Amino acid sequence: MNKKLLDAMITQLNFEIESAFVYLAMKNYLETLSLDGFVNWFDVQFQEEMAHAQKFMDYINDRGGKVEIRGFETPRNDFESVLEVLETSLAHEKEVTRRIHNLMKIAYEVNDYPSISLLNWYVDEQVEEEDNFSSLIDKVKLVGGKGLYMLDKELATRVFVPINTAE
Ligand SMILES: [Fe+2]
Repeated sequence: MNKKLLDAMITQLNFEIESAFVYLAMKNYLETLSLDGFVNWFDVQFQEEMAHAQKFMDYINDRGGKVEIRGFETPRNDFESVLEVLETSLAHEKEVTRRIHNLMKIAYEVNDYPSISLLNWYVDEQVEEEDNFSSLIDKVKLVGGKGLYMLDKELATRVFVPINTAE
């Protein structure tokens, strides 16, 4: 694999792990509000981010590259409200999207077709991730304080689906 692309991919897989911890911290903040559905939803989000990291790791290993695990920023642990958690999440996902697109740009620069194929999956996934959070923001704004209880019940039903069977 091209060195610049490999290094950028390693940076991204570490950012996916960092994202997992961002959501893990949010999950634990939501625990303090006793919103069990939101807690479940963010737990699934945490697992999804770890699966995103694993998918990159498997790919790099398949291509004969060497994965490196690096240090992460301490995630934010305190928030003002559920809405603030969701708005912070959406901003985070927009940053992930920006980074995935930049990775795709490098893959095109070095004509690495297998990497372009892999990254297409992440490009599609990011559309879904941003949509998930913006829909949740709309719903929370719509239902307000009292409706949060019903919305919380709905979010309790989200289950983690491993990547391979999801396709
Ligand atoms: Fe991700």
